Amino acid sequence: MSKVFIHTVGCQMNVLDSEMVIADLKRHGYTVVDSPTDADCVLYNTCSVREHAEDKIYSALGKIRAAKESDPSKMIGVMGCMAQKDQETIFKRAPYVDMVVGPGQLHTIPELLQRIGRGEGRQLAVSLSRTEGSQATIARSHETFDPLRDPTMRPTPFQAYLRIQIGCDKFCTYCVVPNTRGPEQGRPPAQILSEARTLAEQGCREITLLGQTVNSYRYRDGDSTTDMSSLLEALHEVDGIDRIKFVTNYPKDMTERLLTTVRDLPKCSPYLHVPAQSGSDAVLKRMKRGYTIADYMEMFERIERILPEAAVSSDFIVGFCGETEEDFQKSVALIERCRFKNSFIFQYSVRPGTQASKRLEDDVPHDVKVRRNNELLAVQDAIAKEDNKKLVGSVVEVLVEGPSKKAAKADPDANVVQMVGRTPCDRIVVFDGNRRQAGQFMKIAIDDALVHTLIGRVQTVDVVSIDLARS
Ligand code: SAH
Ligand code: SF4
Ligand code: F3S
Repeated sequence: MSKVFIHTVGCQMNVLDSEMVIADLKRHGYTVVDSPTDADCVLYNTCSVREHAEDKIYSALGKIRAAKESDPSKMIGVMGCMAQKDQETIFKRAPYVDMVVGPGQLHTIPELLQRIGRGEGRQLAVSLSRTEGSQATIARSHETFDPLRDPTMRPTPFQAYLRIQIGCDKFCTYCVVPNTRGPEQGRPPAQILSEARTLAEQGCREITLLGQTVNSYRYRDGDSTTDMSSLLEALHEVDGIDRIKFVTNYPKDMTERLLTTVRDLPKCSPYLHVPAQSGSDAVLKRMKRGYTIADYMEMFERIERILPEAAVSSDFIVGFCGETEEDFQKSVALIERCRFKNSFIFQYSVRPGTQASKRLEDDVPHDVKVRRNNELLAVQDAIAKEDNKKLVGSVVEVLVEGPSKKAAKADPDANVVQMVGRTPCDRIVVFDGNRRQAGQFMKIAIDDALVHTLIGRVQTVDVVSIDLARS
């Protein structure tokens, strides 16, 4: 039996893609191993969003070279966004790679591996570029093969990602994703619902719907259109699924209708990841984000009004082309005003093929990017810690995911272990418990709070009267 090892970087889309590729390969007789040394086939699922993510993969490919040279039958595959973006360049930079497969062609992997095994040489399978055909043909070449699900490949069988949207059409000037993942397409609601039911039958209790601009979801069938709100209403009816989250949101599509739907459907988590990217109108304009800070604040105030207890999180890019100190201070001010639950902060990285790489100068020096990154993170972390501290003394409801990383490495027979769960607002909670609690909803009394973690203990007294839903 052939053995496969997979190394995954990048966003949730990639985690989901790896899960499906492995499920597919298992159906074709492969077993999964956790070291590249033991594997007959080593796969890298890659990301192109920043140069650093690509560098890490090229360096991993450099390391595997010796193993391939001493055992030429070991197959090396590069899949995901960097495969789509770099294509043959990967064979040029690492000639011992056997296979390059874009995110829209992952279903071909078992067949490609067979061809390599038969001695047919290197295999390349990528989707069409954004100018290589009609809109419909390009879109079809980026379609994914989501219905294959395998609960054993997920860190916990109780939670799963469910893709509802493929690709992106927003074309923010810095971003490579519209090129690597192709045109925006909503998946048919019937497919999404049937996948949710399969997940529920497999014991999954929480689903996180995925899309690059998930709240722009739309599917047209003749005269009828399903939008994000109607999709949430339909998913809410699936028995066994108790929690629904969705990422990533686009600020302009966070409508009154969507927010009231989230408010009115108890299974929908009041957790909204809505990246702002910058606090400065001038920078947002150069990023072509399609909104001003006044628009963002109008949206934010809509969230505060309709879902007052919601946790909102964001992404920021520091050091984008032409970002002045004054622009940067506006990002600081936005974090201070919105008090995000957390923010992912990135230093701008020029991406070949994007509008910014062609038209704008990457003129903020590296050391300034680093300083702004640290400064913004410090402001965000102080806020997160302060807001988490306010939860000390309260009781939250968590879905228990399993033992913490620390506990997973410790004695497997211990009775009491540190367990991890998440609140509806996506806050991480650790507490002493036992492994059997994985997959259960539990009430946890919070005793202490750090920047990214709440520390608590299992609440034994009945707390029905406490409002748990908004934490
Ligand atoms: N679709 C999502 C984000 C996808 S990429 C959205 O629109 O919000 C995830 C994050 O990476 C982005 O939110 C952005 O903050 C960051 N990012 C994207 N391209 C980047 C680049 N060229 N340099 C630095 N950060 C980048
Ligand atoms: Fe990239 Fe913008 Fe699309 Fe997000 S919305 S994936 S940042 S182009
Ligand atoms: Fe990276 Fe592709 Fe995701 S570029 S962030 S893996 S969509």
